[in-house]
Amino acid sequence: DEALIKKGAKVFKKCKACHQVGEKAKNKVGPILNDIIGQQAAVVSGFKYSKALKQLNGDGLVWSDENLDAFLTKPKKFVKGTKMTFAGLKKEKDRVALIEFLKSHSQ
Ligand code: HEM
Repeated sequence: DEALIKKGAKVFKKCKACHQVGEKAKNKVGPILNDIIGQQAAVVSGFKYSKALKQLNGDGLVWSDENLDAFLTKPKKFVKGTKMTFAGLKKEKDRVALIEFLKSHSQ
């Protein structure tokens, strides 16, 4: 719902140092996150992923709600060797809201 998306937009501020969403989004330190929900890992064109994330793509990993929730809890635990330097979101409510926000930027 709208309130959750709004909360998620606030949480997304923590991601904005590296990621963009929306019409004018570009790859920065991290890849564009439009359409990330339900998308295969490591497929954003023009972005240079780590070997670890490319391996996940090879394994067929899809960014389902569950996988994204696990990744965002502790990125370096879910993807050993990822170059995403972010400690993670400890609060489940924050992750739920953020995922809702990312859904609002997915098809
Ligand atoms: C990768 C989300 C914070 C840098 C990713 C991916 C997702 C994601 C879903 C995988 C993308 C794909 O498979 O195409 C988020 C969210 C964040 C966040 C929701 C905030 C809660 C950050 C921050 C940084 C960062 C703060 C920079 C300090 C990266 C990089 C990658 C990445 C470099 C590529 C990782 C690799 O190739 O191993 N992020 N991220 N992210 N993110 Fe983030």
